[in-house]
Amino acid sequence: MKSFNGTVLVVGATGRTGAWVVKRLQHHNIDFHLFVRSGKKALELFGPEVIDKLTIGSIEHPEEINAAIGNAEAVICAVGGNVTDPNAPPPSAIDRDGIKRLALIARESGVKHFILISSLSVTKPEHPLNKYRQVLTMKLEGENEVRRLFSEPGYAYTILRPGGLIDGPPLNHALLFDTGDRISTGVIDRSDVAEVAVISLFTPQANNLTFELIQSEEAHQSSLKNYFNFIKN
Ligand SMILES: NC(=O)c1ccc[n+]([C@@H]2O[C@H](COP(=O)([O-])OP(=O)(O)OC[C@H]3O[C@@H](n4cnc5c(N)ncnc54)[C@H](OP(=O)(O)O)[C@@H]3O)[C@@H](O)[C@H]2O)c1
Repeated sequence: MKSFNGTVLVVGATGRTGAWVVKRLQHHNIDFHLFVRSGKKALELFGPEVIDKLTIGSIEHPEEINAAIGNAEAVICAVGGNVTDPNAPPPSAIDRDGIKRLALIARESGVKHFILISSLSVTKPEHPLNKYRQVLTMKLEGENEVRRLFSEPGYAYTILRPGGLIDGPPLNHALLFDTGDRISTGVIDRSDVAEVAVISLFTPQANNLTFELIQSEEAHQSSLKNYFNFIKN
């Protein structure tokens, strides 16, 4: 039996976290569609079997978002602008306006659950990362729009705020979840962030939740679901 029956649109699927989201959706046998900037990159990462599951475009362009949404029941967004490249669009265009645009079109198109990968410390305007064109504040504004649009009855949001992202296998560490942006530092594997985003689709405690997540000691995990039960308010 499938744990989630709808189609999930993965936005930013060719990114380092997004690619793990796709792998974990495949692991859980959940249907997906991919919104990517490069079809070539998607085929290299996921193989020719995803060719019918691709829409090429950017969250800067509403008509391309519309084409990608289709009949998606949920969105998992792992997009992040490139903050160090002065030629890339700024965080105001991607992490704020792009996310707002995506969330609005998703809401208008009947998406029921919007899952956003954001960042630790977005509520800290003085944080050193904000020297990169206010990236954390821009992410907070994107988050705010997701919360506003998806907190109505019948809809849900889940906002994950991971610590520094590293690249190891999934289910290899104990995790720490918290709310209120109280964790100042920490790291977490992208694979675990992806797994938590995917299980949020079918974990009721994840509905209408904004939470931070980092890893603690190395320890094999059979599931990450129980960490939602340990969140203190
Ligand atoms: N790095 C960290 O330590 C850290 C810590 C906390 C939170 N985060 C956040 O976590 C998220 C995932 O991080 P990551 O390291 O996995 O990111 P990443 O590897 O840089 O991937 C970012 C993805 O966003 C896509 N993208 C960028 N602009 C786009 C646009 N206009 N339209 C559509 N897609 C677009 C990229 O497309 P292409 O594949 O075509 O380039 C890529 O797939 C990001 O929001 C990041 O800011 C990062």
